[in-house]
Amino acid sequence: MAALVLKRTGQKMPLIGFGLWKVTKSTCADTVYNAIKAGYRLLDGAGDYGNEKEAGEGVRRAIADGLVKREDIFITSKARRVLWNTFHAHDHAKQLAKKQLELWGIDYFDLFLIHFPISLQYVDPNHRYPPEWFGDDGKVHLQNTPLSETWGAMEELVDQGLAKNIGLSNCQGSIILDVLRYAKYEPQTLGIAMTAYSSFGPQSYLELGMAKDSSSLLEHSVITDIATAHRKTTAQVLLRWATQRSIAVIPKSNNSNRVVSNLQCDAFNLSDADIASISALNRNYRLNDPAEMDPRLAIFA
Ligand SMILES: NC(=O)c1ccc[n+]([C@@H]2O[C@H](COP(=O)([O-])OP(=O)(O)OC[C@H]3O[C@@H](n4cnc5c(N)ncnc54)[C@H](OP(=O)(O)O)[C@@H]3O)[C@@H](O)[C@H]2O)c1
Repeated sequence: MAALVLKRTGQKMPLIGFGLWKVTKSTCADTVYNAIKAGYRLLDGAGDYGNEKEAGEGVRRAIADGLVKREDIFITSKARRVLWNTFHAHDHAKQLAKKQLELWGIDYFDLFLIHFPISLQYVDPNHRYPPEWFGDDGKVHLQNTPLSETWGAMEELVDQGLAKNIGLSNCQGSIILDVLRYAKYEPQTLGIAMTAYSSFGPQSYLELGMAKDSSSLLEHSVITDIATAHRKTTAQVLLRWATQRSIAVIPKSNNSNRVVSNLQCDAFNLSDADIASISALNRNYRLNDPAEMDPRLAIFA
């Protein structure tokens, strides 16, 4: 499978992975097992997705059945500002990474990301895990932990062998430039490899009330026309638009047929004209903006 080579370690990160957000907890172990069986070699998880233990069960079963070895699978996890936004302080970040590894039942993550550049008040995992955005009072509570402290903890995870690569998620250029000023280990997915999420549009955000426009990219006439011409699904066209430009993708599906067909998105090439017409759909429309929960979290301002 096509892969991106990560700059510092030379490790190969598969261009197509499987996303774990909203993968149903009760069937997650089977879904992950079947995704590995179908050929996926990258799993994109996070503490916040609430299914780490089940995803780890699927991985361990696949290894036990001889489908893969641990070193054949690339496991990405995220901690909002190390261990979710509430774990940004140095010791909490390290505590969280260890807890997440324990839940997965593995010794190291291939890539560990700071989920958002937002630090929230610490929540003891014994009290609530995953802690999510809101405190017991239903409000967002910020915490004064600078990103440099969190990044330092991430680097220690690398030195301890608990994370092979570390990186950032949901960060814009100004933050990345700042991290590059003090980083001992540069963020990995800038050399920097990039991964796209929510390739199919706003579906995941509708039920959260976080999408102003519900129109699906999967049914857009530009995409359906290209899909018909190539005899591919609209999902495959949307994924190929990214992978053909060396942007990794991590589609999620709870449906076994779609899990398989999404992985087959690199078996054809879009023309330059196809890519240009898909790119021309850009409306600077942003999903997953924390400012919609609390205006103080305007990281994309
Ligand atoms: N770093 C971050 O902050 C961040 C944020 C968002 C997402 N992510 C990662 O990115 C992954 C993907 O993003 P996403 O979860 O928003 O979802 P997505 O991959 O854009 O998929 C959205 C929805 O499309 C449906 N779908 C999947 N394949 C399809 C196909 N072939 N045809 C028609 N519909 C299809 C799925 O529903 P069914 O399950 O019913 O198929 C899914 O719920 C996440 O799972 C997560 O790992 C990261």
